[in-house]
Amino acid sequence: MSELNTLALKILENGKGILAADESTNTMTKRLDGVNVPSTPENRLLFRETLFTASSMAECIGGVILYDETIRQETSKKNKIPELISSLGSYPGIKVDTGAKVLAGSPDEKITEGLDGLRERLKNYYKLGAKFTKWRGVYSISQNYPSKLSIQSNAHALARYSALVQECGMVPIVEPELLMDGEHSANDCYKKTSEVIKKCFEELILHKVDLTGIILKPNMILDGNKFKDKVSNNEVAKLTLDCLKNSVPSEVPGIAFLSGGQSEIQATENLNLINKINNTNFIMSFSYGRALQQSALKFWSKNIQDIEGTQKIFNHRAKMNTLAAQGKWSKELEN
Ligand code: G3H
Repeated sequence: MSELNTLALKILENGKGILAADESTNTMTKRLDGVNVPSTPENRLLFRETLFTASSMAECIGGVILYDETIRQETSKKNKIPELISSLGSYPGIKVDTGAKVLAGSPDEKITEGLDGLRERLKNYYKLGAKFTKWRGVYSISQNYPSKLSIQSNAHALARYSALVQECGMVPIVEPELLMDGEHSANDCYKKTSEVIKKCFEELILHKVDLTGIILKPNMILDGNKFKDKVSNNEVAKLTLDCLKNSVPSEVPGIAFLSGGQSEIQATENLNLINKINNTNFIMSFSYGRALQQSALKFWSKNIQDIEGTQKIFNHRAKMNTLAAQGKWSKELEN
């Protein structure tokens, strides 16, 4: 068993998942504007520190994805953020892409940038304590999209990124996200997600990435948000499991879903249903941003000094998702 495989398994052991707290300053500013809290470095840190010091961290959160600003910040007690996370038995991770930009040749689509100088940046993040990383490729779904160009170029970038991350001794989270926006059906999402994931693994293999030392972070198979005839959650779980079984090589140790705009409860319920029927060897867990933080952020915004109250809400969501990652969640537990 390679060290990277051991690490990937540790991050997702016993129903633990990942807290995606890697919103860029722009995205975090949008989130804070949405709840009328000024987006200052101090406020961004205060909210994140509130989550990172919650009691559920040790039991439910195996890894935290940080943004460049946060990995360099110190807590109010003068602890470095990566040290704080490690001291709780969780692993600090870092988003290393520099964002999705317009794809030349197909201007309605995006290509994720950040490969230039990546090897040096990775060495620096490793020194700061990062143990794993994230890179997100983003794809829209419609009749002609994602195009072959977007599928090919994003897969290539994800593979080059992963190879560099493993060379530096960290576990890459490989995130190809097909967006929920649009009028497509779940069946369209299934077909396009399969195509994207298969191409990603073709490139990962070509770049000699150790598949036992990565975590895949895919979308679930969902209808577009403008599609009328919604499939049931049971169907979402079946389609998602089937899609991953057919497109992900069996060596991959773990799959940690993004929430992608699902409500908190929907993201938990779907993960639970997937785990109830999971007949693969993949660990199926969560790497949620909004679906772990939304209610906590709303509550916190009313009184940003109410650490305990905010943590209580976050602890509940973290616990619910840890149960879902083991197929042990039920609606009644939400009350
Ligand atoms: O890259 C996406 C984030 O890490 C996950 O965010 O769960 O809000 O989609 P989300």
